Amino acid sequence: MVYILNALTIKCLNKGKSIMVRDNNTYFPSSKWLENAHVNSIDKYNEIYEESIKDPDQFWTSVADRIDWYKRWDKVSDVDYNKAKISWYLNGKLNVSYNCIDRHVESGNGDKTAIIWEGNDPSEDKKYTYSELLIRVKKFANVLKSLGVKKGDRVCLYMQMIPELSIAMLACCRIGAVHSVVFGAFSADSLRDRINDSSCKILITQDTGVRGVKNNIPMKENADKALINTPSIDSVVVVKRTGVNIEMVDGRDVWWHEETINASEDCEPVEMDSEDPLFILYTSGSTGKPKGVLHTSGGYLVYASYTHEIIFDYKKNDVYWCTADIGWITGHSYIVYGPMSNGATTIMFEGVPNYPDFGRFWDVVDKHNVNQFYTAPTALRALMKEGNTWVESRNLSSLRILGTVGEPIKEPEWKWYNKIIGKENCPIVDTWWQTETGGILISPLPAATPTKPGSATLPFFGINPVLLSDEGEEIEGNNRQGLLALNTSWPGQMRTIYGDHKRFFDTYFSQFSGYYFTGDGAKRDKDGYYWITGRVDDVLNISGHRIGTAEVEGAIGKANGVAEAAVVGFPHDIKGQGIYAFVTLMTGIDSSEIILKSIISSVAKEIGPHAKPDKVQFAPALPKTRSGKIMRRILRKIAEKDVNSMGDISTLADPSVVESLIKGSIQV
Ligand code: WT7
Repeated sequence: MVYILNALTIKCLNKGKSIMVRDNNTYFPSSKWLENAHVNSIDKYNEIYEESIKDPDQFWTSVADRIDWYKRWDKVSDVDYNKAKISWYLNGKLNVSYNCIDRHVESGNGDKTAIIWEGNDPSEDKKYTYSELLIRVKKFANVLKSLGVKKGDRVCLYMQMIPELSIAMLACCRIGAVHSVVFGAFSADSLRDRINDSSCKILITQDTGVRGVKNNIPMKENADKALINTPSIDSVVVVKRTGVNIEMVDGRDVWWHEETINASEDCEPVEMDSEDPLFILYTSGSTGKPKGVLHTSGGYLVYASYTHEIIFDYKKNDVYWCTADIGWITGHSYIVYGPMSNGATTIMFEGVPNYPDFGRFWDVVDKHNVNQFYTAPTALRALMKEGNTWVESRNLSSLRILGTVGEPIKEPEWKWYNKIIGKENCPIVDTWWQTETGGILISPLPAATPTKPGSATLPFFGINPVLLSDEGEEIEGNNRQGLLALNTSWPGQMRTIYGDHKRFFDTYFSQFSGYYFTGDGAKRDKDGYYWITGRVDDVLNISGHRIGTAEVEGAIGKANGVAEAAVVGFPHDIKGQGIYAFVTLMTGIDSSEIILKSIISSVAKEIGPHAKPDKVQFAPALPKTRSGKIMRRILRKIAEKDVNSMGDISTLADPSVVESLIKGSIQV
């Protein structure tokens, strides 16, 4: 399959010395990137892409050589989507922490900065060289061992963006323990459920956290609440971040600094099988119960490492910054494992874009001379809204490549990013992927792919996207729209849902036999470019974070007086999507400020503050079919204020409900 028009290629090359050229809303990579980039022309992209599809085994063999293996694999892959069976680099042996640290030290790069930690407060930063990191990781790995952690045991990490989070992850994989990082904004209840689902043995947390103006996020206190009902947890390791007084439980809780101080600096990495689990990361689905996405060692590392190098055109002396939180997959793959397996200098940022002011990102770029900058469209929208003076007072000349992830980027913020941040000099890579995919699947290559604002463009090497009709027929040709699926595997693909392989099969492989179904819709334009249109299931994308409607509904349902709730998304200026909740109350209960507050606080308690509804509409009844199923399509239209194209409502048990919902929506 050849995706790119030759005409585009020619135009691109002919533009000669001009830096970035606009042509019918297509942006060509600037000439200065064409020369030294890993993939420096669209022809080269096409050539490698075709090879990768023609002979995937050969392709993925050559890619895997970037990793140091104790023993090479016997077979490149063994995949059967009909059984949800996926293995890569079978019987290969490696250690992920060795690949992310030791080998860089052994090759003479021990003095290179591995992590630049930029604290919430601009005056606070720290640097760790690869040699220093190695010592810390070995010491902490020994602490884990002394607490009884063995290969295969699960370790939960509930932390903010502090260096100990990366150190703990790497220490886990050094000894073969499986980490499960729980995003630091999740509530005690969410933490408890995640610990129990994968029966974690140890929890690592911190006293309190700082983020923007919040200087006392009660991490340990939340952890203590969760730990009331987590029988599998033996010990808790607490990092002193703020020094605030916290309760320590005798016999259970230990301090990170006390345990590590005398820990041995010797700790050989454990030889792991390619398919040994590396980590679990929970993500929301269309049911109320989050899924423990499981990634394994060999394939994941190969894929994270390779995509990081090629898509960000990473070069040896670059300073690379991904602003995501390590609590999400973006941070796992593109702050920790991808960059560090490549021996990169990776920035870890504890703060937020608007603290102490709206120029913070740009200060950090200038302070550390960042070359690649990777963020979410929601952050760009929030910053764009504040005007350009925050940017103009900063230099930004170190920037070479800009990236986005997490949600569709719209034209205004793409153009702002290009012009105001990149000075029309930095290609933008709009990277589409998922927790499940482990790494980026659809994205421009910065020096090769002409870009169009809002399109993730073309598949990465070895990736076979297809569009399916609702009936599962493949939609061929360009200028078409459908459900986005993949018809072959890639090394970074998730292997199972922890403890529930049947759910893995049912969620991703049962709807369309022989395909991995992504849950996204997409269109393919006349040039074969992909444009992601968003989720087609009951999953919302709030500021680039996935939240299941069923989870929010469950949390609202627990508030006093609530009979039933239905949650849908609506377009939101900054967040991309906002949460709109329709709530019916029990008979005899009237809507009030108090009820509203209890709904909001129930969501914060059950899930976390990031899942609080933006709008709550109290309704006498919800639109249901005669069999009692809520018709979300109607609620979506009301939330989107698009009530004139409601479609057929005759199958509703009581069509008059719709009118009262529309009336009620006016007050919201
Ligand atoms: C969902 C995955 C992948 C890391 C962050 C989110 C949406 C992701 C894009 C993009 C349009 C995107 C999709 C996807 N998404 N990247 N570049 N353009 N949509 O990971 O929480 O697993 O969410 O995010 O809907 O399915 P996640």
